[in-house]
Amino acid sequence: MHRTTIYQTVLLAAVVAASVAAGTRSTAQAPGAPMSPWALQRGQDSLPKVYTDSQATAGQAVWTKTCSECHETSDVTGSDFRTKWVGQNLFALYETIRTTMPDGDPGTLPVDDYAATVAYILKLNGLPSGEARLTTDSVSLSAITFRLPTSGGAPASDTLVR
Ligand code: HEC
Repeated sequence: MHRTTIYQTVLLAAVVAASVAAGTRSTAQAPGAPMSPWALQRGQDSLPKVYTDSQATAGQAVWTKTCSECHETSDVTGSDFRTKWVGQNLFALYETIRTTMPDGDPGTLPVDDYAATVAYILKLNGLPSGEARLTTDSVSLSAITFRLPTSGGAPASDTLVR
């Protein structure tokens, strides 16, 4: 158990280091990997479309079946949640959910279900869907910053985007 924890920590450190390296060199992008929509739209008002409708629908089903036992959707749209997660990259959110939820039974869902719940959370926060699925890949997810739409009752974007 203890050894596993250390291994996971080392692995996470390696993943973070790889993400940082990928951020500084565009050549680090895996062949065939879609370029981060965020990279294309940094500084613009339009938001990147990082998940598909069907993925959010799948995420809603996971939410209803598993997460809603303990959570209201306001748990992932309210100001506490936004203060903590807006401005973070999506790998941080995905990995937190994957390694801690369902509470008491973490990591027991297929990774695609975890990605789908993140997609659903993005939808609940008013972010647009598109053609590209949200992956479970740490480097791709790390490259996407959780931003909110400037309209739709979200707090002022300049206090939340960094
Ligand atoms: C058995 C109850 C339970 C289930 C099921 C559950 N959660 Fe949680 N969740 C909690 C509790 C309790 C917390 C707050 C404690 C904490 O932060 O560790 C929490 C916190 C969270 C947070 C906030 C984490 C943070 O650090 O801000 C997110 C996001 C979340 N859950 C998502 C999910 C998703 C998605 C699912 C379904 C896959 C899920 N939870 C299923 C009990 C549960």
